[in-house]
Amino acid sequence: MTKLVVLGVCGSVAAIESPKLARELARRGISTVSVMSASARRIIHPDVMEWATDSEVITEITGKVEHVKLCGVGGKASLLLICPATANTISKIANGIDDTPVTTFATTALGSGIPVVIVPAMHSSMYKNPFVVENLKKLKKNKVRVIEPRFEEDKAKLADIKEIADIVLEGI
Ligand SMILES: Cc1cc2nc3c(=O)[nH]c(=O)nc-3n(C[C@H](O)[C@H](O)[C@H](O)COP(=O)(O)O)c2cc1C
Repeated sequence: MTKLVVLGVCGSVAAIESPKLARELARRGISTVSVMSASARRIIHPDVMEWATDSEVITEITGKVEHVKLCGVGGKASLLLICPATANTISKIANGIDDTPVTTFATTALGSGIPVVIVPAMHSSMYKNPFVVENLKKLKKNKVRVIEPRFEEDKAKLADIKEIADIVLEGI
C-alpha cells in the first residue's frame, strides 16, 4: 500500500526545495499532502505544492479537522516531515505552542506517536541562537528526528533532498 507523508512547509527561502522533495518522495512511491504556514505562502505559492503533491494543500485547519484525520491516532499519515523548518516553528513545537497549521500537525503527530522528522534551514546566526539550540535538543530528546543542515556561506542550509528522502523512507 502507498505510504502517505504530511509535508509541512515553513517560511524559509529553502521552501523553494519543498516541491522538489515532494517529487523525489513520489519517485520512491510515497504520496504527500502539504501543509503550509502563512509565512511559507509568502515564499512559494500553494499551487506549486498542489502540483508537486497532486493533492489539495492545507493552509488552515478547518471543520474537516485535517490534522486529526491525517496525524491523529489511526490517522492516514505514516510520518510528518517538516521541511524546511524555521527557527520559529522549531521553537514553537519544542514548547508546545500551536498557532499555525504546521504546528497544529506537529502537536497532533507528537501526541499520537506518528514519527516526526524536522529539517532546519536558516542563517547560522539563527541556528546558533542558544534558545534554538536548546529547543532542537528538546525535540531530539522527545524522539523527533532532526536532519542536520549543511553549513555553507554562513548558512545552515537544508540537507540534501535525496538524503532527506532516504531518511523518510527508512522512517515509515
Ligand atoms: C525571504 C525570507 C526568508 C526567510 N528565511 C528564513 C529561514 O531560512 N529560516 C528561518 O528560520 N526563518 C526565515 N525567515 C523568517 C521566517 O519566515 C519567520 O520567522 C516566520 O515567522 C516563520 O513562520 P513559520 O515558522 O510559521 O513559517 C525568512 C523570512 C523571509 C521573509
